[in-house]
Amino acid sequence: MSWLPVLLLVTPTFAAEPPAQAARGKAIFVDAATKTSCYNCHELNKEGTAVGPDLSKIARLSPRALKMSIMATRTVYAKEVELKTKKAFPAMVASESASEVKVHDLSTVPPTAMTIDRKEIYSIRDNATWKHPPENVGFSNQQLADVIAYIRFASFGDTKGVSVEEMQ
Ligand code: HEC
Repeated sequence: MSWLPVLLLVTPTFAAEPPAQAARGKAIFVDAATKTSCYNCHELNKEGTAVGPDLSKIARLSPRALKMSIMATRTVYAKEVELKTKKAFPAMVASESASEVKVHDLSTVPPTAMTIDRKEIYSIRDNATWKHPPENVGFSNQQLADVIAYIRFASFGDTKGVSVEEMQ
């Protein structure tokens, strides 16, 4: 009889698979049925589209601080682009050069990547009206704790999880 199968059974697997709570959070994060699910606008763990900020950079903030920025209605990075045609839309600027600006148009869900000739732009201003989608979705504290547990797991391998008490 070989010992190998027994060893395989008792050897713990590390990291690759998220623990139960982070797995629930991941299901919310990459929910393909919901157009406003996080991965339409955030890239995490090589999944999704990097329209919004890189969440791994803020993953170590307290769960409460993360909840506040997920539910916040105040924008920091989103802009209001107005074209000379008078067409205006909320957008995230991806990159700029002397002749053109690459943006993600936030008026569509998921956002549309587009390159605009600078000559067509009337202005790019701070945006005071765009709302981050989860604000309209009404997540429970448990769902938010699960999503944050996934952000923490995917960003720095955290397996402790996040309790509902930490969200209040
Ligand atoms: C339609 C696109 C979109 C979707 C969907 C979306 N986000 Fe965002 N997110 C953004 C944008 C754009 C910003 C930057 C907002 C601003 O101007 O401050 C942002 C900001 C954030 C921030 C703050 C980041 C920072 O560095 O301050 C967090 C945290 C966050 N999102 C988490 C989430 C989570 C979790 C979900 C899913 C439940 C989600 N987002 C869904 C586009 C989106």
